[in-house]
Order: sequence, then C-alpha cells, then structure tokens
Amino acid sequence: MSLEENKKLEVGKEPQPRNQINLNPIRRLFENPQSSIEPYVKKGQVVADLGCNTGYYTFALAECVGPEGRVYAVDLKEDYVRELEKNASERGYGNIEAQVSSAHDLSFIGDESIDFVLANGLLCNMPDHRPSAVNEIRRILKPTGKAYLSLGAHPPFGFVDRPEWEKILEEFTVERRGGFLQRWAVVSKKDNGEQMSGNYVETSKRHRLRKLRKWLGE
Ligand SMILES: C[S@@+](CC[C@H](N)C(=O)[O-])C[C@H]1O[C@@H](n2cnc3c(N)ncnc32)[C@H](O)[C@@H]1O
Repeated sequence: MSLEENKKLEVGKEPQPRNQINLNPIRRLFENPQSSIEPYVKKGQVVADLGCNTGYYTFALAECVGPEGRVYAVDLKEDYVRELEKNASERGYGNIEAQVSSAHDLSFIGDESIDFVLANGLLCNMPDHRPSAVNEIRRILKPTGKAYLSLGAHPPFGFVDRPEWEKILEEFTVERRGGFLQRWAVVSKKDNGEQMSGNYVETSKRHRLRKLRKWLGE
C-alpha cells in the first residue's frame, strides 16, 4: 500500500502525540513543514532530521522522499523517538528509520550518504558537543547535499550566540541565509576536504554563565 493510500485511511484519526507536538495545529498555521522542505527534497533521496523531536518535520520529509527514499530521524530523547516510531508504524511509513542518539555521534549513517540534513532548532539546544555535531553534518552530507540549519532561542536560553553562529557557517558554503535577526541558513559542504577549519570552538560554559548572570542583572 502506498503512503498516499495509507494517509487516506488515516484521515480524521491521526494519532495524538502526548507532548508539545499537540501544539501542531497552531504551529501549522504559521509553519507548514511540507511547503518548507519541498524546495530541498526530491523523491528517492536519503535525508536526516536531526533533533527530530516527535517528527513535526520527519513525516513531511518522509512524504517528500516517498517509499523509495529514507529518512533518518534522530533525537537524544528516547520518549520522542519511541513516539515517532509508534506514529510512523501506525501510519504505515516504512521509510523512516528512527534512532535515539546525540547528533554528535551519527556513526550509524555512512560518510557522504545524505542528500539533505534538517537541523531545525538543534544546535541551540545542545549544551555541548556542538562542533562534533557540525562535523558529523559535514561528514554525512553528499558533496551535492544541502543542510538547513536554524537556531531558535538566543542565549541565555539557547546555547549558540551570534559569533558562534557565524563560526558554524564558516564551516560550510552558505547558499542562502536569513537576515540579521533570522538565524537560519541553507548550506552545503565546502569542497576542501573533511577537516574542520579549527576556528569553530563552541562558546564555553563559563562564558554562557557570565552572559546569564549579566542577563539576570547580577
Ligand atoms: C527545539 S526542538 C526542535 C524539534 C524539531 N526539529 C522541530 O523543528 O520540530 C530540539 C530537539 O533537539 C533535541 N536534541 C537536543 N540535544 C540533542 C542532541 N545532542 N542530539 C540530538 N537531538 C538533540 C531535543 O530533544 C529536541 O527534540
């Protein structure tokens, strides 16, 4: 049975996840996952949704790549991944491979095997190992692949400040990016090999604590 046929069967009885993805209908009003990723993903491609949560974008990616493609859905939190797996199985998506893992160790994904990486709101939620996660994104991307990187919360709530965001982008070729206040970019691999520049060092915990104290007015 095709994904489309499966979807028709499920109309009106979509499984209701238990966590914040219950906010989906509201989120969908201003952020449509399908139309957001369609420009980047084609049928049959292999893609990775890093920091997938319960799959707000994963299912849209699975639709775009179709049954011949594959989506690696990766999150550190087991509950999210199990919920995503359950929904994927109930809705008949056989092209999603969900993994509990940190984005800084994607050893289950081969070198240069991924056409599109989505890391939406991931790096700003990682207290550490961000340079390794960036290195893993570079490692798994095909030479022709693209990644969509975006940051949500700014420090002190998120872990990536503006200078660090710029350092992250220096590790890639930037194809498109948001304006001053919009921290998103579509990037591809630099064609100068696998090594990171060495310039990208994540903002230290001490630096972040100092920022938090300043923000709290201490
Ligand atoms: C702001 S949510 C974004 C969720 C999803 N990308 C979306 O757009 O709906 C960040 C997600 O990253 C996950 N996360 C945090 N640290 C991670 C890590 N080191 N490796 C993988 N996922 C991580 C969190 O569990 C959370 O689900």
